[in-house]
Amino acid sequence: MTLELRSEAEACGKIILLGEHSVVYGHPALAAGLSRGLILRARPLDGRGGAMELSIPAWDLDLRLTADSEHPVARACLEVLAYCDGPVTGWRIEGEAKIPARAGLGSSAALSVALARLALPEADARTVETVVAASMAGERVFHGDPSGIDSEVAARGGVIAFARGEGVEAVRLRSPLHLVVVPSGIPRQTGVLVAGVRARRDRFPQVIEPVLEALGALVVRGRAALEAGDTAALAELIAVAHELLGALGVSRPPLDALAAHAVGEGALGAKLTGAGGGGCLFALCDNPGAAASVISAMAEGFPELAASPRTRAFAVEVEA
Ligand code: MEV
Repeated sequence: MTLELRSEAEACGKIILLGEHSVVYGHPALAAGLSRGLILRARPLDGRGGAMELSIPAWDLDLRLTADSEHPVARACLEVLAYCDGPVTGWRIEGEAKIPARAGLGSSAALSVALARLALPEADARTVETVVAASMAGERVFHGDPSGIDSEVAARGGVIAFARGEGVEAVRLRSPLHLVVVPSGIPRQTGVLVAGVRARRDRFPQVIEPVLEALGALVVRGRAALEAGDTAALAELIAVAHELLGALGVSRPPLDALAAHAVGEGALGAKLTGAGGGGCLFALCDNPGAAASVISAMAEGFPELAASPRTRAFAVEVEA
């Protein structure tokens, strides 16, 4: 059977506010959706024969989705389509991405969620649980053993609290969050970083388990701070989270330098977000004006990053 695709679908990018890595081991985590992170548009190819095509220029992707492809994006997409009752032939899918790829902002989950929404039957495409399940088929190709938080927030948006096996809750913020996202320009792979944390935990369980527990406790306290609008407590917890992630082995000196610069220039707190090893950080700011000054200060301190739109810091407002 050959699937018909919907003409357009979208998914959110994400910022993990607190709890990355520890979430893999069942601890809670908090994430915020970045709306319209990726929009996919599909159109039938002439004659409807031939392979599927996927092009996302902002991510330097131009692929044919064929069964013998070894490209991880092609393999992940084919898994999602198979979940949706594929195979699919004779369609071209073009993507408009507002988030960078492989930077810890949820690009792979956004792709698999948007693709599931293009390919699932109408009723399933409107059911968030089914969309997430289809997305996870792709996420497993990218990340091995993903917790599922990226797919959940890509499909739902807003701010969510997630714990593996326990599900998702929407979190109501008391006041908006003014964030600056700071790309490091350092490429990394989530699966490799998750495996590195697991290896460290296996080598030193008595040392690393308490760090994972502490990250989980920090999320519980961080959620209370978000719900109470206690920005000072949240900022302190963000700083502690960055240090604990360093203890897991997923920070790097350039990420520490970017975080220190943002805080030195007026951010209330800063931490890496997502798997680490590179990718992005975010800085919490008092208000939009403070966020704009942090963006200018990052450009002055790190002109090589500001020179490219792909690595320039940008503001994100998470609505209350
Ligand atoms: C990646 O965005 C978040 C991690 O916690 C991995 C996962 O939850 O699957 C590092």
